[in-house]
Amino acid sequence: MKIFAYGIRKDEEPSLKKWEQANPNIEVGFTKYTLTADSARLAEGASGVVTLQTSPYTREALTVLNKLGIKFISIRNVGFDNFNFKDLNDLGFTLTNVPVYSPNAIAEHTVLLMGRLLRRVPEFDEKFDNGDFTWAPTIGKEYREQTVGVIGTGHIGRVVIKILQGFGAKVVAYDVYHNEDIEKQGLYVDSLEELYKQSSIVTLHVPLFNSNKYMIDDQAISQMKDGVYLINCARGELVDTDALIKGLDSGKIAGAGLDVLDDENSVFGKVWSSINNIPNEKIKNLAKRTNVIITPHSAFYTETAIHNMITTSFDSNKALIEGLKPSNIIDTTK
Ligand code: NAD
Ligand code: COI
Repeated sequence: MKIFAYGIRKDEEPSLKKWEQANPNIEVGFTKYTLTADSARLAEGASGVVTLQTSPYTREALTVLNKLGIKFISIRNVGFDNFNFKDLNDLGFTLTNVPVYSPNAIAEHTVLLMGRLLRRVPEFDEKFDNGDFTWAPTIGKEYREQTVGVIGTGHIGRVVIKILQGFGAKVVAYDVYHNEDIEKQGLYVDSLEELYKQSSIVTLHVPLFNSNKYMIDDQAISQMKDGVYLINCARGELVDTDALIKGLDSGKIAGAGLDVLDDENSVFGKVWSSINNIPNEKIKNLAKRTNVIITPHSAFYTETAIHNMITTSFDSNKALIEGLKPSNIIDTTK
């Protein structure tokens, strides 16, 4: 039995080696390349593939895997919005994800982005670079004075809430499905409009679907408080970048913490030497602002997360090959 893995990085290799040692009856092959129509044929001889990428999984690549007789794909991450379910169904694939590799990794990053904005850290850094060790005008705000609107109270959103409560922030939440604990605490508001009305910080923790693409648009922003902060550690396409830029220009939005961006694959994962060389004008516009913090889709990137991503994805792929039905199979019929 063989599993072939795509996009394996050096930092994943120790966990991968451990998994191989614990599963000596399984042959593991891997490449650093992502899964494309060209690299797909590297999986020849494997029964399943394990993969991780933010770029789309193309029908061409999946067709090559299908022709190699591969039926099982296990992603090492949470979000599966870069798959077209019709392609998976047409070609008879079963897909698993890693639903809970470390919600804390993303939640901690989210709250850090908020804190860096509230305490104006990028502006202090700029002053520091100029040898300026003074206080004014970079006066900060405290968490306990904030009302944070958490959109999505799944695994990550709930950890964000817990951390924020530790800092003394007031939390309001919105989700299409209510979590019992969050419900008991009375945190839910009935509509996004109500959440926008109350929140001094809005943070996104929902998956991306066709139905919520650009949910943060001109209209949503117009419903928010003046001087709101926006945090997005979920998916770039949830936010209309033009609307965000307009909101920042007008001062309606006081600042943004963005781990994900629309069209991020044009910029992330590469070295540009200077933000002046970024080949995407909208991202460059955001990157030049001291009230915008951009991180390269790295909220997940911790030692704990990487280990769990490798272990769970390989365990799931092995289970599928053995004819089992792991609980993390994605329902691609919806
Ligand atoms: P989850 O499935 O546990 O929670 C998602 C929540 O969103 C659920 O409670 C669901 O009911 C709710 N939801 C779905 N659609 C909604 C809508 N339109 N409006 C309101 N609520 C809605 O997922 P999670 O583990 O909390 O992850 C959330 C998202 O974070 C993932 O889908 C992924 O896109 C993103 N993510 C980002 C990183 C990163 O490194 N930046 C890492 C992991 C996950
Ligand atoms: C996810 O797990 O969904 C992420 O966004 C992490 C990234 C490595 C794809």
